Amino acid sequence: MTASNTTWYREAIFYEVFVRAFADSNGDGIGDLPGLITKLDYVQDLGVDTIWLLPITPSPLRDHGYDVSDHFNVHPDYGTLDDFRQLIAAAHRRGLRIVVELIPNHTSDRHPWFQASHDPQHPDHARYRDWYVWSDTDQKYQDARIIFLDTEASNWTFDPLRGQYYWHRFFHHQPDLNYDHPEVQKAMLRVVQFWIDQGADGIRVDAPPYLYERESTHCENLPETHAYLKRLRAFVDAYAPGTMLLSEANQWPEDVLPYFGDGDEFHMNFHFPLMPRLFMSLAQADRTPMVEILKRTPGLPDACQWATFLRCHDELTLEMVTPAEREFMWNYYAPDPRMRLNLGIRRRLAPLLGNDRRRILAANSLLLTLIGSPVIYYGDEIGLGDNIWLDDRDGLRTPMPWNDQKNAGFSTADRLYAPLADSAVNVAQQRADPHSLLNQLRHMIKVRRQHPTFGRGDFAWIEVGTDAVAAYQRTLETDRVLAIHNLSDQAQAIELAEPAQERIDLLTQSRVSQQLSLQPYQFLWLVER
Ligand code: GLC
Repeated sequence: MTASNTTWYREAIFYEVFVRAFADSNGDGIGDLPGLITKLDYVQDLGVDTIWLLPITPSPLRDHGYDVSDHFNVHPDYGTLDDFRQLIAAAHRRGLRIVVELIPNHTSDRHPWFQASHDPQHPDHARYRDWYVWSDTDQKYQDARIIFLDTEASNWTFDPLRGQYYWHRFFHHQPDLNYDHPEVQKAMLRVVQFWIDQGADGIRVDAPPYLYERESTHCENLPETHAYLKRLRAFVDAYAPGTMLLSEANQWPEDVLPYFGDGDEFHMNFHFPLMPRLFMSLAQADRTPMVEILKRTPGLPDACQWATFLRCHDELTLEMVTPAEREFMWNYYAPDPRMRLNLGIRRRLAPLLGNDRRRILAANSLLLTLIGSPVIYYGDEIGLGDNIWLDDRDGLRTPMPWNDQKNAGFSTADRLYAPLADSAVNVAQQRADPHSLLNQLRHMIKVRRQHPTFGRGDFAWIEVGTDAVAAYQRTLETDRVLAIHNLSDQAQAIELAEPAQERIDLLTQSRVSQQLSLQPYQFLWLVER
């Protein structure tokens, strides 16, 4: 492998896929791995190069697979391990990489480890007794916040069989594993090894901040947790160098930095605080929220990278904003209380932005030109709608509409795992229209891929005399791209400071002058010739 090959994720564009929602190959109303294989040409054509799969392992699906009940298999709804290996082969043939999930913090309460741990009569009880965090009282670790505020009243739940409380940072049916137990530490490394053996190119590590608990702390980001994550990285580096580890630490930039270590922990981490600020900037026609959070964003060790995103399978989380900013976001983007969930907003990209093509494209342009490697959530490339009336986050995880046939071409079944979103868009219609959102986004992705600068280059703000315009320079060696965004619904006249020989917009190949009049939400990716 060449040097740039081992850091492929620094230039990658990710596409997040919920297998259940993507394509149903066997007519049972549920998307599956063979269905996804039939859609790889579509994914390749979109121009992304890495697919991140939401959990595919067996699970009672009370948290869409984040409640794992068997780490070493594929959920029967989705197919078999053989199907997974075929997916890997088919993806690799197209130059696509596959990232799978590791959920180290917890399991389902149906997992055999928990079944043995909570039941004193279980033949394996002695072995698994201490694999979870048990206590006689529910008073320990009171400084830890509750994350799923809308469903859980405590991080402890009483287990009548065992006569003790167990600890859980998420749903009560997701007991936390006890990382003070050496066997738990080893077990999770075996899970990682297994998925690398199946061919995974990278692993998204779910909820890493919460692995350890210590009294009088908020039980997040503890030194013991970082020590274990470094061990995980060392294991991966020794076993399968080049396997990328992506962390989901939803934290402030200064608290995320340790997740990169000295380049010896995670390769990537999502930039959670940046995400809501893209929406704030668009809502307020003011670049300041982005400027402030990027000022607070530290430089990363070599070979590390941010993962950036607009939307994902979860609510648009407002954990990494101030209470006043949260109120603003809720009032602006979630006027109906049903749109709110926990500390966030359960809406997809297009409805959030009023189905306004100009704003959707501007948001995607920010995503594709700011720091980091972008992650696009399936369906958002066609402006898919949502359904706020479904439970929990289910309304963000509805079937992908492929065409105007039965069930939008997702499945031939009479009953689907979830209703289609209330949305007229589909892939076939947008492929046929050269001016569709899909085709415009495809073009932007293609141009981004021609410039490694967007992934690896330096970043600097450019002053253009108004905060309603976000202008910044991305530079890598001799390649310099000036990205300019009108964040407002008013035309903006700006003047670029330096005169240049000639400036060309990479997206339209048109020439622009030093004085610019930007249409509402217009953006340009300029190079000097
Ligand atoms: C992560 C996942 C979310 C899940 C939670 C608990 O935050 O993104 O979907 O519910 O972990 O596993």
